[in-house]
Amino acid sequence: MSVPTPREAVTSTTTFKDDIFRGKVLFCTGGSSGICKGMTQSIMKHGADAFILGRKQDKGEAAAKELTEATGRKCVFASVDVRKPETLKAAAKKCIEVYGKIDFVICGAAGNFLAPISGLSENAFRTVIEIDTLGTYNTIKATLPYIRESRGSYIHVSATLHYRGTPYQAHVSAAKAGVDALSNVVAVEEGPRGVRSNVIAPGPIQGTEGMDRLTPQAMKDVITKQVPLQRQGTIDDIANMSVFLFSDAANWVNGQIIAVDGAHLHTSVQPLPYPESVLDPASAVKAIKPRL
Ligand code: COA
Repeated sequence: MSVPTPREAVTSTTTFKDDIFRGKVLFCTGGSSGICKGMTQSIMKHGADAFILGRKQDKGEAAAKELTEATGRKCVFASVDVRKPETLKAAAKKCIEVYGKIDFVICGAAGNFLAPISGLSENAFRTVIEIDTLGTYNTIKATLPYIRESRGSYIHVSATLHYRGTPYQAHVSAAKAGVDALSNVVAVEEGPRGVRSNVIAPGPIQGTEGMDRLTPQAMKDVITKQVPLQRQGTIDDIANMSVFLFSDAANWVNGQIIAVDGAHLHTSVQPLPYPESVLDPASAVKAIKPRL
């Protein structure tokens, strides 16, 4: 049986005008790599300048240079640990010194690894909660005064893992559920001031750390077949949603959690053998590299 060719990903500039974000400023945690870097690039391609934040200075500065070269817009990097509110407050201040404003914020910094609860130390659980959930809270707190001033908009990068019980992902599932909740509250508390807050929940996206580092090839093939649109997502698929959500076309979109996943969550089954992989975690070692 022949399967029709999947619908391809396009870049946002094939659909949206080049200058819709002219004069706008993006503040993006996790912008040095992966999905957040792709979102930043797309938003800059539509005219915005950017301030990206991450832990590693060399990687961040190289990313900022690359983003400037690819888009012709200004991009500045600042080193932060989103777990430390003072570093974020200082970075937001620096962004104001450089650009005078912040219009858009992406809360994207995240951490992940695979481990069953039985192999997850209290510190491991706390670390991911602190990076993802507390890091999002810290980013919101550091930027909210400026976002109120610009009547700007937040996008939080979440996941679809916590819609069901996903084995080996207790820490991230709990953390991302918290991120979704924070966004909803910001949408309701700040909406009357003209501020919007939404969540993008990416499905399986090729070329990301989550798929490259955490997912072995055999599992990737299973996952791809389960996606109704018959391919993994691309970073552009997610970036396009961020362009739409920050654009004026989304002016009445607030407090939403939008899965961009080709409808994967409707059809997916656990990619690890079930229940073998939870009854005998050692049996999963061949497929993944968890700490048991
Ligand atoms: N399995 C179980 N526990 C793990 C683990 C794994 N694979 N990786 C780290 N941990 C535990 C550590 O053992 C430690 O707990 P302990 O003190 O009880 O031993 C705790 O998590 C903190 O680890 P540490 O390496 O000190 O934290 P960090 O802040 O340097 O690292 C992480 C942050 C944990 C998120 C790390 O996985 C990381 O930096 N990942 C790369 C970035 C990333 O994940 N991006 C997102 C991809 S989707």
